[in-house]
Amino acid sequence: MNILILGSGGREHSLAWAVMQNPKCDRLIVAPGNAGIAQIAECAVLDIENGGTVVSFAEENAIDFVIVGPEAPLAAGVADRLREAGVLVFGPSAEAARLEASKSFTKEICDASGAPTAAYARFTEAEPAKAYIRAQGAPIVVKADGLAAGKGVIVAMDEQSALDAIDDMFGGAFGGAGAEVVIEEFMEGEEASLFVLCDGEDILSIGTAQDHKRVGEGDTGLNTGGMGAYSPAPVLSAEIEALAMDQIVRPTVAEMKRRDTPFQGVLYAGLMIKDGQPRLVEYNVRFGDPECQVLMMRLGAQAMDLLHAAAEGRLAETRVNWADDHAITVVLAAKGYPGSYEKGSVINGLDGLVEDSRNMVFHAGTKAVDGQIQASGGRVLNVTARGDTLQEARDRAYAMVDRVDWPEGFYRRDIGWRAL
Ligand code: AMP
Ligand code: GLY
Repeated sequence: MNILILGSGGREHSLAWAVMQNPKCDRLIVAPGNAGIAQIAECAVLDIENGGTVVSFAEENAIDFVIVGPEAPLAAGVADRLREAGVLVFGPSAEAARLEASKSFTKEICDASGAPTAAYARFTEAEPAKAYIRAQGAPIVVKADGLAAGKGVIVAMDEQSALDAIDDMFGGAFGGAGAEVVIEEFMEGEEASLFVLCDGEDILSIGTAQDHKRVGEGDTGLNTGGMGAYSPAPVLSAEIEALAMDQIVRPTVAEMKRRDTPFQGVLYAGLMIKDGQPRLVEYNVRFGDPECQVLMMRLGAQAMDLLHAAAEGRLAETRVNWADDHAITVVLAAKGYPGSYEKGSVINGLDGLVEDSRNMVFHAGTKAVDGQIQASGGRVLNVTARGDTLQEARDRAYAMVDRVDWPEGFYRRDIGWRAL
């Protein structure tokens, strides 16, 4: 098969790495890709949020299967355009991608399907929103309805911060994403993520993970896209996973089908777990980054068969071949991230690292210039390892990290601390 992956992060490098190992893959193109992806696949410059451009490219290159990495092309309807053109694609329609693109839509689906989640109210004007916050008191959570690059959620520990967040959102701080606001009950507990393939009808869990969103050790400092992850997440035990599948994911997928907007792709359920009960925090309609890197490390070549089965509607007859293993990824980011940072610094030491089925450096923001690898983004490398125990995987990942020579970068030394 000729396969096209859309995206350019560590997520897409790990997807490309898994797909390349599958004998069914004859040719792999990643658009736009990065310096690490270019070492294992062809890269192409393409406007991946333009459905017409992606369809033309797929037709010109006789692409049999497209895997969409990030949410923006999904929300822009790229999967719809490909399906209309008869190209097989992994990823939901724009209508089904509203499970990520609109917080109030997700709440509506939870209401209709009875999925446990935080109590909430929706507002399109500041004054009633503020009155609701004063009546409920803090802690309370204020969310911009639309996609806001992960910055549209304010967990307010006091009432004033919540009121300020309302002023920011209705004042246009998040553009159109803040035209509607969802105010939620603050949920206590431990967070973990469940990744479930969906083919519109059937569902298949492909693993659990825990991310480290804060920039600093001990989960301190600003929020980031994720500074590291591991899989499995011990807090999401088999019993709790079964509850989440039965009470949250399955009813969601059934409700989407009932509405004639079936969900096909990966549903990434962010869960809050307390007293043995999971509740939904949010859905994403794509793989997490860096969570995908640990999932791909564990699944290896079969990942492509699983995504292909989801796209072809064959999940009912598909099983995951599980190993009793653990994977961890440590993100190396440019100093200054998630604030401003320099681009163009040179990364050395990568050539000497062993890369195999248990050790991989997945690239995110990198660029090859005159034979050197340069940093070109905030999150730059994902040093990833797999082992029989989390401790073994972690020791190996940090041993690799220690050999990367990049003075302009930094990382957290405590990835995996909750589980260990
Ligand atoms: P979201 O973008 O909805 O995942 O929100 C970002 C983060 O805010 C989540 O990962 C949680 O840590 C936190 N969060 C969101 N909603 C709630 C809630 N209702 N209660 C507590 N924390 C929340
Ligand atoms: N790592 C969080 C995300 O991909 O949304």
